[in-house]
Amino acid sequence: MPNLTATAIAHPNIAFIKYWGNRDDALRLPVNGSLSMNLDNLYTRTRVTFNPDLPADSLTINGKAARGPALIRVIEILDLVRQQAGQTGRAAVVSSNNFPIGAGIASSAAAFAALALSASTAAGLELSEQDLSRLARRGSGSACRSIPGGFVEWQMGDSEADSFAFSIAPAAHWPLVDCVAVVSQVHKVTGSSEGHGLAASSPLQNARVGDAPRRLNLCRQAILTKDFAAFAEVVELDCNMMHAVMQTSSPALLYWQPGTLAVMQAVTAWRTAGQTVCYTIDAGPNVHVLCPADAAQQVQSKLAEIAGVEKVLIAGVGGPARLEI
Ligand code: PMV
Repeated sequence: MPNLTATAIAHPNIAFIKYWGNRDDALRLPVNGSLSMNLDNLYTRTRVTFNPDLPADSLTINGKAARGPALIRVIEILDLVRQQAGQTGRAAVVSSNNFPIGAGIASSAAAFAALALSASTAAGLELSEQDLSRLARRGSGSACRSIPGGFVEWQMGDSEADSFAFSIAPAAHWPLVDCVAVVSQVHKVTGSSEGHGLAASSPLQNARVGDAPRRLNLCRQAILTKDFAAFAEVVELDCNMMHAVMQTSSPALLYWQPGTLAVMQAVTAWRTAGQTVCYTIDAGPNVHVLCPADAAQQVQSKLAEIAGVEKVLIAGVGGPARLEI
């Protein structure tokens, strides 16, 4: 039997309306819908090779063999693919990133989107965008948003079958830029899978979830009409609500570092002074500073001057996950 192999590239995404908490942890069905954009020049490239001669599945990330929980999560996706394809061979998965992993730059989103596409293709499946999105979701919820291109909404759905992401506007619709102020590259202590399990222990989670459809509508509308002021307001509100939940769960999760707060305060001051800019933060200390493309260079140099900012990564709106031929 010949080797079955495929390589895929996927971008991470930054959520404007956040996903935090599952109603089904195993299937990763979220308690609320979410909205994001893909980040164009950050990516994960993953090659999957199924080979009946391999004794076991293996995973290499950035040149190093990975074991434990990371490998187990990958095997779960490979098993789903094998089941669907009627394939029994074990797989070698080789993955690399061009950005720091585990520090709030959604490395797992890019990783599981690239894995869903490369593994299903290598196994001979030709999945639709929806099916790929559902498969990626099983590895990491937010990964379902890295399958379609541009500005992407994940509908929570009523069941496993209709919880997937779709594009609400292509990448070229609105040239936004994410200036990622990196204040720490240390791997985070509490990963998001564990964090989702704590969300319900916060007395603020019900309020956050109950108001999520309203914020989702406001954000979708702001994107479709390219209304930056409305966008900034709802994006910061949504981020602050998620971090309020994190900080009030048991145990409490505080992802911020001093540099995180310094950037948040600077961005608020710049916007008050008239600049089109806003912030959002995932489950990590780094701050995603969003602005129109024509302001990005200025924002980048101002961010680099803030004490605690190690470097600033720049990303525009990215396309869908794709195969590398
Ligand atoms: O997909 P996960 O399990 O890594 O969770 C992502 C959680 C946040 O990044 C904090 C929010 C989001 O919607 O991306």
